[in-house]
Amino acid sequence: MKKLYLLGMAAALACPYTLAEGTAPAQNKEAFISDLLSRMTLDEKIGQLRLISIGPDMTHEQIRKEIAAGRIGGTFNSVTRPENRPMQDAAMNSRLKIPMFFAYDVIHGQRTIFPIGLGLASSWDMDAIAVSARTAAREAAADSLDMTFGPMVDISRDPRWGRSSEGFGEDTYLVSRIAKVMVQGYQGKDVSAPDSIMAAVKHFALYGGVEGGRDYNTVDMSPTRMYQDYLPPYRAALDAGAGGVMVALNSINGVPATSNTWLMQDLLRRDWGFKGLTVSDHGAILELVKHGVARDGREAAKLAIRAGIDLSMNDMVYGKELPGLVKAGEVPESQIDSAVREVLATKYDLGLFADPYRRLGKAADDPQDVNAESRLHRQDARAVARRSMVLLKNAKDTLPLKKAGTIALVGPLADAPIDMMGSWSAAGQPTQSITLLRGLRDAVGNQAQVLYAKGANVTNDRNSLAFLNRIIFDRTEVEVDPRTPQAMIDEALKAAANADVIVAAVGESRGMSHESASRTTLDIPAPQRALLTALRATGKPLVIVLMNGRPLSLVRETEQADALLETWFTGTEGGHAIADVLFGDYNPSGKLPVTFPRSVGQVPMYYSHLTIGRPFTPGKAGNYTSQYFDEDTTPLFPFGYGLSYTTFDVSDVHLSSARLKRGDTLKASVTVRNTGKRDGETVVQLYLHDVAASMARPIKELKNFEKVFLKAGERKEVTFNLTEEDLKFYNTQLQYAAEAGDFDVQIGLDSQDVKQARFELL
Ligand code: BGC
Repeated sequence: MKKLYLLGMAAALACPYTLAEGTAPAQNKEAFISDLLSRMTLDEKIGQLRLISIGPDMTHEQIRKEIAAGRIGGTFNSVTRPENRPMQDAAMNSRLKIPMFFAYDVIHGQRTIFPIGLGLASSWDMDAIAVSARTAAREAAADSLDMTFGPMVDISRDPRWGRSSEGFGEDTYLVSRIAKVMVQGYQGKDVSAPDSIMAAVKHFALYGGVEGGRDYNTVDMSPTRMYQDYLPPYRAALDAGAGGVMVALNSINGVPATSNTWLMQDLLRRDWGFKGLTVSDHGAILELVKHGVARDGREAAKLAIRAGIDLSMNDMVYGKELPGLVKAGEVPESQIDSAVREVLATKYDLGLFADPYRRLGKAADDPQDVNAESRLHRQDARAVARRSMVLLKNAKDTLPLKKAGTIALVGPLADAPIDMMGSWSAAGQPTQSITLLRGLRDAVGNQAQVLYAKGANVTNDRNSLAFLNRIIFDRTEVEVDPRTPQAMIDEALKAAANADVIVAAVGESRGMSHESASRTTLDIPAPQRALLTALRATGKPLVIVLMNGRPLSLVRETEQADALLETWFTGTEGGHAIADVLFGDYNPSGKLPVTFPRSVGQVPMYYSHLTIGRPFTPGKAGNYTSQYFDEDTTPLFPFGYGLSYTTFDVSDVHLSSARLKRGDTLKASVTVRNTGKRDGETVVQLYLHDVAASMARPIKELKNFEKVFLKAGERKEVTFNLTEEDLKFYNTQLQYAAEAGDFDVQIGLDSQDVKQARFELL
């Protein structure tokens, strides 16, 4: 059943990106680019390094003039063929007819919106994630886009950071696996194909490590942590063939990424061998002045081009300053040439020299209505979304619900079409997203009654509302019901009084988990908590459906709820997908890709922390061990956790040998049994711990996993192969090697509840 909608994906993903035969211009790529470069004036070269946002700053007419004069290399934020075609026409009227490329933040869908990054990661399902990326690419390419600023693979271990929602969580291995699949999905097997787009992985590097979870802040990190935990996902995206890299806004140990020659040259180009395109983040070059490393725009441009930033995103600084810098001999023209080469090579790889209208197509074929239903991929979105939810609690088998009787659906997120889509929802239309109210009503038809009451505003805090409805959005994001909180609760209680079960959709509005949206608390906002307390007091079964873009602190809500379902922001088909799970038409199989702390005071809290001298042992409260005395020291929900409507049992770990010789393979197996009454899927997770090494090592690290489907009563042996490669780490000298000695293999269905066996690496 699962594979039906995935047909063809395996074949499509098998091959990394290559240029299709027959699409290249006559000459080979290098010769073609060298020839073109030799014919370009300095101004034309610098023009290629400018990436301009379509927006209020420049009218369309001005942009077309600039393009025709050879002064713009690409644009972003214009997302339809009729918008982009005149720009390509202008490029075709320029002296050298160098095609434009069109980019956009296609992060979790283009027109059909899939779950946000944290949701996709919760599926632990690489096929489903591939479908989301491939579909996004097809839709984006059909809208004439050539490139996405994605995937976003920043490891985030601080849920105060609003951009946690965009990425794939806290774990290096899981995020790296997803990074690869996303890139392959976007680029397909041939990035020059008319239905592929190029991936520009972001934000290079370490953006998720910003101090205090405050967006754009500094990152101060030890080299071992960088290499071991934070850098591998970017590398995985590049190894999968990502054509571009977007550079982070933060500084790294004092040096902004945008002027960081160690990052951009030594690491990216020299050590990793990256040959593609580098793009600054929005306005980041000029921000070097604010960072305090450049006196003015001129020095900022010089630092950035010298560091190796090819494209300047939306600041005028390259166009303004580079001509003078070259003429004054402060920037060698060869430096400009190498950046231009990369831009031209990108356009070549995208197939744009062979056909500048490759993704634009013919005007006669333009869709009449870009938002036509026929352009959406609802079935795929629903299939992926239902895999992305995590069942956190299900006391007394409250779920699945019956399609009978009366259901009270309450909460400010129960009928919130904008929020369903999550932030960075590209060209998705709220009017096309299925809310939970709609999803429940569609699911029950006339078999049951659904009573709806909003019950509370997302928040009543004026400052928060002013922030959430700030001017950058072209619509009111968070509608505020003018009734008093009590009047709204009373309405919800009335619905509850007439119902057999209450479903409360609560959490965050999507803007609360977005760029620049850092929080000092992880609580559900006060009016919603008051609503939940009132609902709990009714004594009726209470199902809490969470919508949010970061781990929240849910101690009280976990006690109040009979069932707790984390849905993140589920996308266009979210309401249907959540209903599928609530009614058991799909048995939830998601697992948390992030740790849920009990309170913000525990942050940062992640499962793979280093071993320490005085660890706290649960159940053995002792003095002078690492603990909080005023709160439980453990997380509320651990990494990898998630329930199902059935139950599973994992056997002891069987190792093929107690010793591993370098070059050999050791097999670690368990038997997993579905011990419940329903068919279901779970994720078998393998963690490793290096018992004694030359430096402290994580208490455990995910090294492999397998999602398995088991019929009720069925058992299956799951075997993982372990080699020396799995045991390697970056030591204090940054040498990547496995050290001889004992290793614990832990296998389980979350990061805490595991079975363990030991072997020795010889
Ligand atoms: C964000 C990037 C994004 C860019 C273009 C920036 O503010 O940090 O992630 O790609 O805007 O929209």
